[in-house]
Amino acid sequence: AVDPRLKAISESIRVVPHFPKPGIMFNDITTLLLHPGVFKDAVDIFVDRYRHMTISAVAGIEARGFIFGPAIALAIGAKFIPLRKPKKLPGEVISEKYVLEYGTDCLEMHVGAVQPEERVIVIDDLVATGGTLCAAIRLLERAGAEVVECACLIGLPKFKGYCRLNGKPVYVLVESR
Ligand code: PRP
Repeated sequence: AVDPRLKAISESIRVVPHFPKPGIMFNDITTLLLHPGVFKDAVDIFVDRYRHMTISAVAGIEARGFIFGPAIALAIGAKFIPLRKPKKLPGEVISEKYVLEYGTDCLEMHVGAVQPEERVIVIDDLVATGGTLCAAIRLLERAGAEVVECACLIGLPKFKGYCRLNGKPVYVLVESR
């Protein structure tokens, strides 16, 4: 049976055509955040899934992974690791570049944020091509961590290939266009 909470989650996400540039359909989760019950349902679904999987760290991808990741981490008793855009973290970092539709971007993580063998979940708001999640997985695996799963509120099926990244499952609450 389909979780009845998913309908409200899907309906509370605003789709904005031609943002941030022509041709892009932007899935805006800020409208979901305005509904505390729906926001809580989204967090609770992830918490129920991960609370008994001996996860010691939740890694959130800048920027919208920082909205959901800490709530999940606190609820399951895990630490939170911010994966940031370049030149934001003050300590020693490791970096992974990834390809976008136009050009490249990069994610960075502090050295020492995660220990070898730690079981980690990666969280973001949305997966499209999966390039961003791939970079996050590479960062964590270079540090010796085990990425158990990636988790996103929204998946875009038209980009295919998001169902599995580097052999890692991606758990998605709702699909969008
Ligand atoms: C969006 C989204 C993911 C990424 C997914 O971030 O929040 O992080 O794109 O795309 P992919 O699966 O094709 O890699 P965006 O690039 O808009 O950056 P921002 O979070 O800094 O706004």
